[in-house]
Amino acid sequence: MTEQTLSIRTLSTDDLPQVLRIERACYDFPWSEDLMRNCLEVGYHALTLCEADEIRGYAFASSGAGESHILNICVDPAHRGQGYARTLVQQCIATVMVHAAKVIFLEVRESNHAAIALYESLGFVEIGRRDNYYRLRPGTNAKSRKTNRRNREDALVLSRDLTIIKTADDI
Ligand SMILES: CC(C)(COP(=O)(O)OP(=O)(O)OC[C@H]1O[C@@H](n2cnc3c(N)ncnc32)[C@H](O)[C@@H]1OP(=O)(O)O)[C@@H](O)C(=O)NCCC(=O)NCCS
Repeated sequence: MTEQTLSIRTLSTDDLPQVLRIERACYDFPWSEDLMRNCLEVGYHALTLCEADEIRGYAFASSGAGESHILNICVDPAHRGQGYARTLVQQCIATVMVHAAKVIFLEVRESNHAAIALYESLGFVEIGRRDNYYRLRPGTNAKSRKTNRRNREDALVLSRDLTIIKTADDI
C-alpha cells in the first residue's frame, strides 16, 4: 500500500453499493440508499477517498448562503487510524470554501469521542447542543444530560470559522 494509490474524487451513484456497505457497518441508524441518492441529485458535495478502486471513506456536505454543513463522514472500520477522515474533512472544507462558505457546522453524538477529537484537532469548536437529537439503539447506555426521554442522545454542535483560512496549509 503506497500513498500514490490514494485518491479523493467526487462520489457517484456507481459508488453507492460500496458506500452503503461501509455505512451499514458503521452506524446503528445508517443512511438509506434513497437518502444518499437524493443528496447526489440535489447537488450536495459528496467525496470519496479511495485506495486503488476500493472506497475507504466518504463524506457528504452541503453549502449555501455562505454557510456549510458536514452531513456525514465515515471511514471503513478496517482502515481507520490512517488519517483518512482528517483528509476527507480537509477536502470538505476546501470544497465548501470554493462555494463561498464562510463557516462550517456539524452535529456529532456527545458519546462519539473519536469524531469529536477529529473535529477538535481540525479547529472545530463546540457552539451548542441539541437535546435528545439522535436516536439510540435500545439498550444502549449513553450518558445524556436529560434523562426524561429514553433512547435519545444529545448532539454537540461544532463549527469552524473559515474566514481565517488564507492558504491550503491553514486547513
Ligand atoms: C470518526 C472517524 C471518521 C475517524 O476516522 P479515521 O480515518 O480513523 O480518523 P483519522 O485517522 O483521520 O484520525 C484523525 C484524528 O481523529 C482523532 N481520532 C480518530 N480516531 C480516534 C479514536 N478512536 N480515538 C480518539 N481519537 C481519534 C484523532 O485526533 C486523530 O488524530 P491522530 O491520529 O493524530 O491522533 C471513524 O472512526 C468513523 O468512521 N466512525 C464512524 C462514523 C462516524 O462516527 N462519523 C462521524 C459522524 S459525526
